Amino acid sequence: MSREGLTEDNLARDPFEQFRRWWDEAQAKSQMLEPTGMILSTVDPDGQPASRVVLLKHWDNRGFVFYSNYRSRKARGLEAEPRASLLFWWDKLRRQIRIDGEAKKLAARESDAYFATRPRGSQIGAWASMQSQPLDSRETLARRVEELDAEFGDGPIPRPPHWGGFRLVPNEFEFWDDGAHRLHDRLVFRRDGSGWTIERLYP
Ligand SMILES: Cc1cc2nc3c(=O)[nH]c(=O)nc-3n(C[C@H](O)[C@H](O)[C@H](O)COP(=O)(O)O)c2cc1C
Repeated sequence: MSREGLTEDNLARDPFEQFRRWWDEAQAKSQMLEPTGMILSTVDPDGQPASRVVLLKHWDNRGFVFYSNYRSRKARGLEAEPRASLLFWWDKLRRQIRIDGEAKKLAARESDAYFATRPRGSQIGAWASMQSQPLDSRETLARRVEELDAEFGDGPIPRPPHWGGFRLVPNEFEFWDDGAHRLHDRLVFRRDGSGWTIERLYP
């Protein structure tokens, strides 16, 4: 891999295009265990920050989409404070991308369409899990899964109303590229009307 780093000359003018370049390289690196994994940080209604890994399922110029339970801790946080932050750390590339913005629930039909493509086991799991609520034992969850499995039979499984997607609409991107002697490149895009400003930061 070339280590020429990120320069004002090789940087894309558009952060989504820059994201695409690094994303394509990350997805092509077969040694990476979960290149679609990203850390999502939200703030609880009492101001406590919380982070966890979620998978990036689609992205385009509108934003970055992940799916979750709408009653989970993260979803309750986002309801009160939609501003959130995504972080990718692609170790094999020695690159980090931070994306800050506002998360919005996807339209129901978008979540329906994605839910319909999921394996049946995951669909039942979405019905069975009261994500982030206390669970008295593994057996309780296993029993719920068995009951739902029998209830749904062989028919199609509808999306649970408490499960769906969020789209994080970015207002800032930071691209971080590892440099020698800790002289890393950090380039920040900030939304400015219909365009973006670009600024280099000290590492
Ligand atoms: C590799 C990996 C991928 C994950 N993907 C998702 C995901 O796409 N959606 C999700 O809700 N949770 C996902 N999780 C579980 C979350 O990290 C988290 O435990 C769960 O969403 C509950 O978070 P909360 O209580 O903060 O809301 C994933 C965990 C790991 C380690």
